[in-house]
This record gives sequence, C-alpha cells and structure tokens, in this order.
Amino acid sequence: MNVLVIGSGGREHALAWRLNRSASVAKVFAAPGNPGIAREAVCVDGADYLSIASANGIDLTVVGPEAPLMDGVVDQFRDAGRPIFGPCRAAAQLEGSKIFSKQFFERYQIPTARFIAAYSLDEALKALDSFTAPVVLKADGLAAGKGVVIPQTMDEARTTVAQFMAGELVGDAGKKLVIEEFLTGEEVSFIALSDGANLVPLLPAQDHKNIFDGDRGPNTGGMGAYVDERILTPAEIDLVMKTVMRPAIDGMAREGSPFVGFLYAGLMMTAGGPKTLEFNVRMGDPETQPLLYRLRSDLGAVLHAGATGKLAGVTLDWSPEPSVAIVLATAGYPGKVRTGDVISGIDDAEATGATVFQAGVKRSGDALVTSGGRVVAVTASGATLPSAIDAAYRAAAHVKFDGMQFRTDIGKKGLRRW
Ligand code: AMP
Ligand code: GLY
Repeated sequence: MNVLVIGSGGREHALAWRLNRSASVAKVFAAPGNPGIAREAVCVDGADYLSIASANGIDLTVVGPEAPLMDGVVDQFRDAGRPIFGPCRAAAQLEGSKIFSKQFFERYQIPTARFIAAYSLDEALKALDSFTAPVVLKADGLAAGKGVVIPQTMDEARTTVAQFMAGELVGDAGKKLVIEEFLTGEEVSFIALSDGANLVPLLPAQDHKNIFDGDRGPNTGGMGAYVDERILTPAEIDLVMKTVMRPAIDGMAREGSPFVGFLYAGLMMTAGGPKTLEFNVRMGDPETQPLLYRLRSDLGAVLHAGATGKLAGVTLDWSPEPSVAIVLATAGYPGKVRTGDVISGIDDAEATGATVFQAGVKRSGDALVTSGGRVVAVTASGATLPSAIDAAYRAAAHVKFDGMQFRTDIGKKGLRRW
C-alpha cells in the first residue's frame, strides 16, 4: 500500500523511516516533509491533504502533529471514505482543551491532580485559596508548550493568574484556566494505539523537557528521550492500562467520539500510583524517534489495522535493546532561535550505526542548514541503557553547527534501574 505521513518534524521522519521499512508499504509520501524525510518518502507541498491523498493513490494516511487533528483532517478523510490513523476533531479535544480533559478524567475516575476550572479572574483568585504553593496553572487552550506555569509562592500565583486572564501570557488560550495541585514523582510518557475500542501499548518512554541538564531552565518540546522496559514494571504497566488508558478509550466511545490514533498519557508516577498530567492525541516528539527505532513489527500493517478497527489481538514486536535519542538544538532555543547555520557530520554520525532524525533542517543549495529550534535527534541503541546512551552521544559528537546546544544527561534518570 501507499502511505501518506502528514507533518515535517523529527517524529514524522521516524514515522516515514519505519514505514519505509515495512513489508506492507510500497511507497511513502509526506506532506510537507523535510530533507531527512525526503530520503524515505516523496515529499509533496500543499495543505489540501485529501487532494494529495487521492492524487497519489494513498491507501493509509498517518497524522504526526496535533494541529491538523484539531482542524478536523480525520473527519474530512472519513467523510471521503479514506483510511486515516488519528482521532476525529471531537476526540482531539483530549489535548486541545485542558478543562475538557480534566473534566473527562473526573467523569471516568482517571487518576489526576485535584483541580478547579476557572473562567474569570475572580473565580481563579477564589480557587487559589484552596491550594498551597507550589501550585500548577494551566491555560485551557493549546499554547505551544508555554501554557503551564508553576509559581513557587501564592503571591506569584495571584500575579500569574491575572496575567493569564488578561491574555498577556498566551493570548485567549489563557483566559480559561485549570488550577491544580502540584504532584511529585518521575514523569513517564506512555503511548498506546487504539482503533476506537482495542488498545495496544507501546513501550514506556521518558522525555527530558527542560533545556538544561538536571531538569533546569525553561520547558522545551523535549531535548531527548529514551525507551527502556525498566522505566515501568509490568505491574505498573497493568495499572496504567487499567486505570488510565482503558477508561479513556471506553469513555470516549461512550461519549460518541471513539478515539482512534495514538493516545499519549503524560504520567506522574507518584507515591500514590500513576496520575495523568495530560493526554496528547498523537505520538510524542522526541519519544517517537527511540520508540520506532526499536519497533520490529510492520508499522504500516499495524496502523492500517488501527485505522480500520482491526487491532484486536495485535501485539508489537520490539528489539530488546534500549534506545536513546539526543536532540541537538539551535542557539536561543526555546526562545527566539537563530537559523541558517550549516549542519555537518550527519553521514559520519550514521556511519556509527545511529540514525539522525531531522526536524529543523532545510536544504540550501548543496548544504543542509538549521531552520528551527530542534534540529535533529540522533538515535541509537545498545545492549544496556548505559551502552545505548554512550552510542547515541558518540554518534551525536559528529554532528556540528554553530550555536548548537544539547543536554549531556539524556537517559541518566534511568541508570539507577540498571
Ligand atoms: P502538561 O502540559 O499538562 O503536561 O504540563 C507540562 C509540564 O508541567 C509537565 O510535563 C510537568 O513537568 C509539569 N506539570 C504539569 N502538571 C503538573 C502537576 N500537577 N504537578 C507537577 N508538575 C506538573
Ligand atoms: N515530547 C512531548 C510531546 O511530544 O508533547
């Protein structure tokens, strides 16, 4: 079959790369793609994905980022009778609105932090009285990673709430707020595939959201990730499936918007068990890179089964080796970034056995130059987590561009489990 990947980042490069190695897949297309994706797929420009799919005889479409999902691309494909793997617009609300998702957790007793939804400054200030610092403030709408603030004092919380409500922090997205209790524990990215009824879990992964080592500095889209069975015990995975993933899939089906696609739970593993910080309605970036690096199953066949209600009995086959992805980012990221710097060493990095998934990369004549904050994710595996970390950093050392920044501690939290 021919498969279309929608998107242009590192996650979509990993999807295209794995699909291109799937026995069931004849040809991969991507819209719009990037220079790395172009090694695996035919890249097509344009935002009319349905026309692109029909013009290229596409049998299955896979959506990478959240924006086209919120715009209803899945509803549009379904109306046209074209298989697509991703949630419809109504189901994408699980990521698109924090208030919707928190109230959904409440309706189906999905464990999460205690919260109050506030729709005005008065309500928000009143709500703050029932919390102690640090307290978590979340803009209701999508805010490109800037929607969550965790003030350390109640004075700061009152000031921040006023800024959100005045539209000063993230515009209209912050005029409705979730105020919630601060949880402590280790964060885990837990992703499963669903066809609306059946659930197939991927391996647990861990992201590194802050820009600097030791989880310091501002939040980013993710500076690196690793995939290791030891992140969760089999009993913890059972508990997450039973208390978080299964109720979410059953709840969405019951509400008339069955969830088809990748359901990503951002979990906090607290002393009181796993609690759901958020749902995303897509794969994580950079989690996808180390996840698909290890996947042995035919991804095209699995996603087609997901898009057509046939995931019952499907299980996934994985390489036993832990995998690690190191993100190399531009100067200034996650603030205002500098672009246009020449990138070298990708081939040398890959000659070590690693794969360099490209994100903020564009072609300029014969050269590859930086075009966005997160430039590449250098991904490798090893027999143990320490050797996987070592392999990824050894490969990453070959890639160079001016102003490059990266974390030196990706995977370090996992070492205590080895
Ligand atoms: P979210 O977009 O909801 O995942 O929040 C972004 C980040 O804020 C998470 O990855 C956590 O690091 C942090 N966070 C969110 N909610 C909480 C919470 N209730 N307690 C502690 N940290 C949180
Ligand atoms: N890496 C976090 C995310 O994709 O949302």
